[in-house]
Amino acid sequence: MSHDLFEAAKAAMAKAYAPYSKFPVGAALRTGDGRIFAGANIEVASYPEGWCAETTALGHYIMGGGGRITEIAVLAERMAKCSPCGGCRQRLAEFCRPETKLYLCDNGGVVETVTMGDMLPYGFRGDILK
Ligand code: THU
Repeated sequence: MSHDLFEAAKAAMAKAYAPYSKFPVGAALRTGDGRIFAGANIEVASYPEGWCAETTALGHYIMGGGGRITEIAVLAERMAKCSPCGGCRQRLAEFCRPETKLYLCDNGGVVETVTMGDMLPYGFRGDILK
């Protein structure tokens, strides 16, 4: 991964609105044509109404025109290797292939590289719904 995807996730993390958990998270996605979309978690006083960094990044990605996602980076300053939650795995998988790379990072860079297939084996697939 070029360092820029990690840097985008880290810059996004700095914008997290996480006054309740105090657990800022940043995520960044790269498309096949090189665009990067990033996001942070956004919390709400009514706790279940908040959402994850990956979901914010996906919103930017869709509004930026979508396309094929080739790489994803995620980090949380308070965790050595922040792994996307179950709901975000399903949301990310909607726009990825099983071989799409996911970089689990710490504050210095990539700690482990996995694939979306590793993250969500046997996930629900919507092909039949189309
Ligand atoms: N969080 C994310 O942003 N992404 C994840 O994949 C896991 C959890 C956020 C949600 C909440 O704001 C905080 O981390 C603590 O759960």
